[in-house]
Amino acid sequence: MNDLMSTKPVQPLIAPSILAADFASLADDAWASLEAGGDLLHVDIMDGHFVPNLSMGPAVVESLRKALPEVFLDVHLMVSDPGAYFKPFADAGANLLSFHIEVCESEQHARDLCGVIGDLGVHTGIVINPPTDVERVLPVVDAFDLVLVMSVNPGFGGQAFIPEVLDKGRRIAPLLRDDQRLEIDGGIGLETAELARQAGFDVLVAGSAVYGKPRDQWGEIIRILRG
Ligand code: DX5
Ligand code: ZN
Repeated sequence: MNDLMSTKPVQPLIAPSILAADFASLADDAWASLEAGGDLLHVDIMDGHFVPNLSMGPAVVESLRKALPEVFLDVHLMVSDPGAYFKPFADAGANLLSFHIEVCESEQHARDLCGVIGDLGVHTGIVINPPTDVERVLPVVDAFDLVLVMSVNPGFGGQAFIPEVLDKGRRIAPLLRDDQRLEIDGGIGLETAELARQAGFDVLVAGSAVYGKPRDQWGEIIRILRG
């Protein structure tokens, strides 16, 4: 499963975002979205400080890991102090931990945090928000396994896609090696997925576009998102 991150996929990977799943039947929804063709699960962690919402903590990741031992868990830390949470989420079973460039005081700070994640034996990701200049992330992309471009302001699922962020994809994609992935998150649906693929993104996060629809449609939706 870790090969998901280290080899360039022939077709984009689809990462259902469980934020939009039914938390009362989380493992069941998560499993069904993988059966329907999802390649990995995107897990949104919100601290009520970096973003104005709360979501879930390491206990939920631990339960998902138990229920789905083989799944790749892509854990997106929308938190002000990510370093405090790397070990708890790694211990819980995360395969990848991403944090925001906006919480980094310097390029070196971002590289240091990346090193801490790597030392835990987990893949590394760096995230950039829509209002943040792409120049902020470019100097550090070489260090990470994945670069995540937010296509909504983070905090909530089901928001409208911000097309201006596609330029960030076009800037970052040519800089990446075959063992680095470029992910987009927020407002990805049947119309916007194609724009994202054309801009060079090879991991597409989709929350409400999948879990917000009846389960018998997920296979067809994921097929269309993949293109
Ligand atoms: C937004 C989260 C996203 C969210 C995407 O703060 O980072 O991962 O789940 O949801 P949709 O696909 O509904 O925009
Ligand atoms: Zn996310």
